[in-house]
Amino acid sequence: MKEKVKFSLLIAVCIVVGLAFSVFSIAYFLLLHHYSGKNVDYIWQETDEFCIENIKTVEKNADEDFVILNLADVQMCDLEDILHFNTIKAEIDFLIKTTKPNLITLSGDQTWSNENLICLMLLVNLLESYKIPWAPVFGNHDYGNEGCTAVAGKNVCCDIYERAPHCLFSRGPTNLNSLGNYVFNITENGKILKTVFMLDSGYEQKISNEQIAWLKWNANGIKIANGGVAPEGMCFLHKPLPEFRTAYVHYLYDYGDVTQISEDVQVFYSLNGSEQNGAFDALKTCNVKDIVCGHQHGNNFTLSYQDVRLTFALKTGELGGFVQNEDVYLNGATFFTISNLQTSVANLRVNPNQFKIK
Ligand SMILES: [Fe+2]
Repeated sequence: MKEKVKFSLLIAVCIVVGLAFSVFSIAYFLLLHHYSGKNVDYIWQETDEFCIENIKTVEKNADEDFVILNLADVQMCDLEDILHFNTIKAEIDFLIKTTKPNLITLSGDQTWSNENLICLMLLVNLLESYKIPWAPVFGNHDYGNEGCTAVAGKNVCCDIYERAPHCLFSRGPTNLNSLGNYVFNITENGKILKTVFMLDSGYEQKISNEQIAWLKWNANGIKIANGGVAPEGMCFLHKPLPEFRTAYVHYLYDYGDVTQISEDVQVFYSLNGSEQNGAFDALKTCNVKDIVCGHQHGNNFTLSYQDVRLTFALKTGELGGFVQNEDVYLNGATFFTISNLQTSVANLRVNPNQFKIK
């Protein structure tokens, strides 16, 4: 009898130790271990031959509008956010149901802080569930706070995005001082309607000279492939270019060279972003007509400056904070509608608290 009790006790101890070890292992490998991922070398040179077949396309149906929904700064952060995932899911569900996008862009900071592996996998699964092409760029928080400190390093994030069947992301050349620079075209009946440049402005404080050279190389290649006509371009990046600040100051002090496009102009936070390095002029030479950024949740406007529309996109989701000013919630999403060769921009504002699961 005594032996039997001893044996049962031993079994119970083994089960408890086994369970504790399993829980610790899962917690360690999902929340603490740092995965750096595989290093892929793709060295780009200006002398490389451009091949239009390497540029992905999203086809617009003729006679139908084409909607691009931008989700900015979703910022899924930590265990608490993971447990509240249904709240962000409900908001994104609503934004998609309302705008019926043909393409979803994410202008960076999809995740925030170190527990990014679970956060990113949850978000990617959600985006894949809509079966709509989607295209993210990195922000300054996607692989840790201002550095590669997160569970999933930058290469791992690239792997996750590149494996998602509906995601257009490509890590792009690895010698541009950043990862996740890529280009795709929106076509109609096979004809290029728009070129979309996705730029990583993430951790670095400026768009690098290599990025600019690569951008121009792509734009030139697409122009040649398009019979010598440069398609209108859009550029999505996380941090605002300095011209966002210039345009806002000129708007504020009525310089007369800025046109207000959005219904209102909201600026509660700093307009600081990337340093001046000619990226704006380079984008203009590539016939880019829309530049879209996120990063500061308290800013939201579309201003036309030097024939380019500069859009500070509306923050998506209640995670990571948003600005609430009386009845104005700076939350929801900014979306673009391509209709009869014209592109309009609008906000879908929501009170994110309504999506909280009680
Ligand atoms: Fe940011």
